[in-house]
Amino acid sequence: MLLSLGGCEEIVGERPRLGVLASGAGSNLGAIAGAIAAGELDATLSAVVCNVEGAGAIGRAREAGVEPALIRHGGFERRADFDAAVADALRASGVEWVVMAGWMRLVGREFLEAFDGRVLNIHPSLLPSFKGLRAIEQALDAGVAITGCTVHEVAENMDSGPIVAQAAVAVRPGDDASALRARIQRAEHALYPRAIAAAVAADRAKTTHQG
Ligand code: GRF
Repeated sequence: MLLSLGGCEEIVGERPRLGVLASGAGSNLGAIAGAIAAGELDATLSAVVCNVEGAGAIGRAREAGVEPALIRHGGFERRADFDAAVADALRASGVEWVVMAGWMRLVGREFLEAFDGRVLNIHPSLLPSFKGLRAIEQALDAGVAITGCTVHEVAENMDSGPIVAQAAVAVRPGDDASALRARIQRAEHALYPRAIAAAVAADRAKTTHQG
């Protein structure tokens, strides 16, 4: 696995307060919580929001000692109202950095502005290739020899925004989506905690230089 982090990873100052948004199994949430517990990521997991009842992420949050907020998107007529409810839950826990980990909803400009753009996402391809759903199947259909995963800052358009870090994963002969997904997810679990550290460090360096 090849990691490209593009910046320094040292974090100085207070621990950033993370709020993880998850809709699915929550394996990336578990990896982030594990990295914090192991002292590999100097951050605090302050909140978890899940929008899907019964999602594995709910149990992962509890294992990490955080009671997740369950906010069902179906209960809101407008996306902006759902976004606002999620933002309120995160703010109530003092979240500074929003970490999307399998969050299957798009967020609007107001949400991004509420966190000064400190919103990260992970996508299972080497962006800008294979945006959107079924990224792993798209890579297999295209016949690429190398794919991977990307952590990026979230912008309004889906799977766009400045790239923070990428990890490459080779496609092996005979790979099906499930075999490739398993290897990409292993790469994600190694990459995401390091990318969070890199994004926080880069943001602090920028703020220091501006101040
Ligand atoms: C990950 O593969 C991520 O790239 C994509 O959704 C998946 C979430 O998996 N955005 P998990 O819920 O973290 O296990």
